[in-house]
Amino acid sequence: MAGSSITTALGDLGGLGSAGLAWLETRMVGLLAEGSIWTTGMPAAKSNHAGPIDSDYAFITIICTIFFVPITIALVYFAFRYKKAPGEKAESDVSHNTPLEVTWTVIPMLIVVVMFYIGFRHANMMYAAPADAYTVHVTASQWSWSFLHPSGAQMGGDIGKLSPDRKARETTDPDLGLHLPPGVPIRLVMNSTDVLHSFYIPEFRVKQDVVPGKTSSLWFTPDLPEGDEPDMYWLLCTEYCGKDHSNMLSAVYVHPTMESFLQWQTRATALDPDNPVESGAKLYVRKGCATCHSVAPDGSGPNTGPTWSGLWGLSADEHQVHEGSPTGPKRGVAMTGEAGEEYLRESIRNPTALWREGYIQPMAAVKVDDTELFFLIEYIKSLGKQ
Ligand code: CUA
Repeated sequence: MAGSSITTALGDLGGLGSAGLAWLETRMVGLLAEGSIWTTGMPAAKSNHAGPIDSDYAFITIICTIFFVPITIALVYFAFRYKKAPGEKAESDVSHNTPLEVTWTVIPMLIVVVMFYIGFRHANMMYAAPADAYTVHVTASQWSWSFLHPSGAQMGGDIGKLSPDRKARETTDPDLGLHLPPGVPIRLVMNSTDVLHSFYIPEFRVKQDVVPGKTSSLWFTPDLPEGDEPDMYWLLCTEYCGKDHSNMLSAVYVHPTMESFLQWQTRATALDPDNPVESGAKLYVRKGCATCHSVAPDGSGPNTGPTWSGLWGLSADEHQVHEGSPTGPKRGVAMTGEAGEEYLRESIRNPTALWREGYIQPMAAVKVDDTELFFLIEYIKSLGKQ
């Protein structure tokens, strides 16, 4: 009967000391083997945090179920059992019952304390990164991610594209995105250049707000890939941050070997001084420009910022900018010669000084050294008016 199962469950939980907690955890391990009904709907568990998080989640779900089912059954039963005939006055001779009231206060309190203890322990574990962790600096901005590695390798996120049947996402370039070495703890140090974003990789069970003006961090050790290819996951922004929030994602790769990771690192850092246009094209994706600026001659692609296709070569009449703000005084800047180069240099390093007519979304200043700036401008020139 429903009532007696509650009594048994409450009796067990009420008697919890540390021995009781150990007993509970042993029981939970059995209940929570992968594929257990209590974690239905969770994506595959792929980091050191996933096991504890799933067991916390299942523990709370189990407690809720233990209460929800008998309470609902009793509620429905009593509604019929004590129904009075129409017109009859509702009355009760129950005033109060001290033992009962103490029981229903103390037992739930103990359960909540146990939930807090388990959650707090795992939360502590998630915020204290091991000292030898591999640290990546993550920058979030509307609407892209960018990753700066200790080697100096910097890579923009890969927002991917929807598959033709619009059911799944495909990566666009496997060198883009967050690449991670195998078998080491990863620490992410995160900043936002504009609004509140949130970093979330469902398979790793990690989620952390990225707040403007504040540095936040998290760490995890991804599971090793089973095959020879890197394991791929999606990083999602999980805090609504404006128009393209739903596109603010990136591929995440966990390399199967250090060798494979270092090969990626070499590709990610290599620039060819003898070929500035090609180097500029690489920086266009690495620095995250590709998230907002299209380069396709037909104008297809992202349009948050002005397209680079045909930009170089515009006359002062065709290329109108506002000073100081999107509604500030207007003037024309010819996109040729020194005026054009000066405009590009300034717009990359100090993007809000001049606003292109028709664009109101502010861009964050892009950190580039003089060589990188030269490569990017050469690339933009190569896409100019034919
Ligand atoms: Cu960034 Cu949502």
